[in-house]
Amino acid sequence: DSVLVHSPATLSNLGCGFDVLGLALEAPYDAVRVTRSATPGVRIQHLDPYHLPTDPAHNVAGVALLALLKAAPDAVGFDVEITKGIKPGSGVGSSAASAVGAVVGANALLGNRFSKMELVDFAMEGEAVASGARHADNIAPAVFGGFTVVRAVTPAIDIVALAAPPLWVAVVHPQIEVKTSDSRKVLPADVPLKLATRQWANVAGLVAGFLTADYALIGRSLDDYIVEPARLPLIPGLAAARRRALAAGAIGGGISGSGPSIFMLNKTEATAQAVGTAMGEVFTELGIEFHVYVGPV
Ligand code: HSE
Repeated sequence: DSVLVHSPATLSNLGCGFDVLGLALEAPYDAVRVTRSATPGVRIQHLDPYHLPTDPAHNVAGVALLALLKAAPDAVGFDVEITKGIKPGSGVGSSAASAVGAVVGANALLGNRFSKMELVDFAMEGEAVASGARHADNIAPAVFGGFTVVRAVTPAIDIVALAAPPLWVAVVHPQIEVKTSDSRKVLPADVPLKLATRQWANVAGLVAGFLTADYALIGRSLDDYIVEPARLPLIPGLAAARRRALAAGAIGGGISGSGPSIFMLNKTEATAQAVGTAMGEVFTELGIEFHVYVGPV
């Protein structure tokens, strides 16, 4: 008994929606093969060049599966083979994709006995290992697809899954390391009410913009007044990349997840290509290697 799951990259935060908003991409994706086993426990194998931990207690997919096994002890055990299509640390939901691929695969082998909400819960255990925080803004779009709102993770998980309007994403991934755990340490503990008000006005505007395919509303609602200013020093080139992306026709964008990638939303593939090139030029000038991804949501 074995299944192969393609688990997609995701954009989280989407500017103003820290830990709340997420968007699934069509590619890249992790390929996760899950096989049911009569041997108790979880075994992880990585078929990729990254040196990720294979001890299930320290591997995002392993931790997620151990959480699932706790709820389904009769499942006994799983063998998992992961081929990372998503570069670890790139800021497009690499850890979430592996954790989600593992639990979606295991659930299929168990006759889909768990709901998508429950799968989010299991996969979030993996995310907690990777980043030190139980957040579901990459997990939710990887499980549900489309555009998601994590309305709550406690006391119960409450995900609102919505469709995204046609969009093309350009992501530039500069080859600098920004660990999610580190980029969460720089965040303010308290937020002035004035800033909070501007931020939740943007979140409301952004969700409305997605629902009505109002690209201008999306563009003017993306800005993040709270998290991005704190993370700005960690991501050289961010301000310049945004300026050039907007000049090249992007709707808007910001830090992808906790960085270092920068995402821009676009109406057409041609614009997304031009925006990807324009952002890449910034990093060429800075002498920082980078990789550009352009694709539909
Ligand atoms: N919402 C998370 C953050 C996404 O910004 O830290 C990264 O995993």
